Formats: sequence, C-alpha cells, structure tokens
Amino acid sequence: ESTLGAAAAQSGRYFGVAIAANRLSDSTYQSIANREFNSVTAENEMKIDATEPQRGQFNFQNADRIYNWAVQNGKEVRGHTLAWHSQQPGWMQSLSGSALRQAMIDHINGVMAHYKGKIAQWDVVNEAFADGSSGARRDSNLERSGSDWIEVAFRTARAADPSAKLCYNDYNVENWTWAKTQAMYRMVKDFKQRGVPIDCVGFQSHFNSGSPYNSNFRTTLQEFAALGVDVAITELDIQGASPTTYAAVVNDCLAVSRCLGVTVWGVRDMDSWRSGDTPLLFNNDGSKKQAYNAVLNAL
Ligand code: XIL
Repeated sequence: ESTLGAAAAQSGRYFGVAIAANRLSDSTYQSIANREFNSVTAENEMKIDATEPQRGQFNFQNADRIYNWAVQNGKEVRGHTLAWHSQQPGWMQSLSGSALRQAMIDHINGVMAHYKGKIAQWDVVNEAFADGSSGARRDSNLERSGSDWIEVAFRTARAADPSAKLCYNDYNVENWTWAKTQAMYRMVKDFKQRGVPIDCVGFQSHFNSGSPYNSNFRTTLQEFAALGVDVAITELDIQGASPTTYAAVVNDCLAVSRCLGVTVWGVRDMDSWRSGDTPLLFNNDGSKKQAYNAVLNAL
C-alpha cells in the first residue's frame, strides 16, 4: 500500500492524525492529511473551552469544520475530550463541588448530543492520574468534586451516545513499570469488574528524553487488552522522530489484536505542539521523513 491509512486498513486498523481547523486552508497540509490518514482527532477544537465557552452556550463551529472535512473525505473521527483538568473555560475553572459535577455532566451531554452516532471513539476522561511514583489521582477541581467523577463521566457518556466507544486517555502510561501505568490499570480493572462502561484506553505516546519509548509498551497494551478493553495509540509524537522507534510503536500496536489504530499528533513538524522536537512524519515542505517510510514499512 502507498499511504498510511490504506496500509493500516489491511489489518483492520486506522492511521490517524490530529487536525487543527485553522490549518485546513493550507493546501500542502490539507492534501497530505487527506491523502495519508483515515482517522481524525481535533487537536483543540472539541475541548471544553472550545465547545462550551460560556456555560450552557455550546459552539461547534471549529469542531464541525474538522468533523465535516473528515467525514466528507471518508475518515472516522475520534472525539477529544469531554472531561479534563486542562483547557477548561474560565467559568468551569471557578466551579467546584456539586456545581462542577453538574456542569461536567451537562457538558458531556451537550457535546455528545451534537455528535450522537457520529464518533467512533470518545476520550471521555483525559489525564486524571498524577505523574511520578505516587500512583495517585491528579489534583484538580474535578478530582476535588469527588473521586467518583471519572465513573460518573463514563456512565453519563454511555447514556448520551451508546454507539461511541468510550475511552480513558493519558500520557506517561506506556511504560508498564511506571506507577502511573499501574494506577490506570487498577482503575480500568475495577471499572470492568463493577460494570462501569469503559471500552478503550488511549495511550497518548508523547515520547521524549524525559519519557522515552520502552519496548515494554507492548506488554502494557497486552495487559490492558486482557482486561477486556480496546487500546489505541492516540497522540503519537517522538522527539527527533527516530525511524526505529516509530516502527517499534507501530509493531507494538500490530502485535495486539485489540489495538484499534495509531494517531500521530500533527502532520508536519511545523504543525506540532512541540515543533522544536521535529517529532512528526513530514518535513515542513511536505516531504516524507525517514520515519514515514519506517512506519509505512511496518504497517
Ligand atoms: C495540546 C495541543 O496540541 C496544543 O495545541 C494545545 O496548546 C495544548 O494541548 N495531551 C492531550 C492533548 O491530550 O490534548 C494536548 O494537545 C497534548 C497533550
């Protein structure tokens, strides 16, 4: 196969990309994105501050630009993200307790109603665990509203759109030996045992010198899949874009039957949130990097 999406489809998977609405008018960007990828995640446009800038007033203008572009071009959409400590609008940042809990529920219902039946996977909750060795939840207004906020979010999401796969998504959870990975594993195991509706776990996979790729990532994917959830690589970028590391990540997904697909977090290096790391698959002029060839060969 000659594109990433078509190559991934040979094994029933997708190869996706994060899209920024304001870059779709860039013809080089748009043509690479359309040619190579068959799944799309909005880089920022479906986040809480973008979709509910004022309480109860939803705005899907930029989210819909991405959604419509994706669907018109035959791509599936990952929804990102409904409940998160970051990129909350000001009104939500100032809420706490039961008022915040209700706002979270209302937000999930409002966004999921707009896209009901249209989203393959939703990142219902993003980044709820702390970094480091504690294995604790991350402190946030959501966590202080009661640590059951995560399961409430998932139950709300299931009722709002039963057709979407519901994912928990996080970073620094790729290395099986890390406390954060183990804490996330215990949560998913508990949710499955108690019937809290969760279908998938997203591994962001922002690899860099501080949190490097480790070959035990495959063990992590296998262990989560064995709990009865799908897994996905949701925001892949690799500092320096080592071709061998890119190929290793792809091979880890291919080795796990419940790995749904891989999403890279941007098109060209200049489109990356970490552009200084040159972490993506395309050069700024739109040409393919060595990492691109390594990924295509691995698929
Ligand atoms: C990043 C975007 O790429 C940036 O444009 C934005 O300024 C901040 O958020 N984890 C996530 C993503 O789940 O939503 C983040 O995206 C990167 C880290």
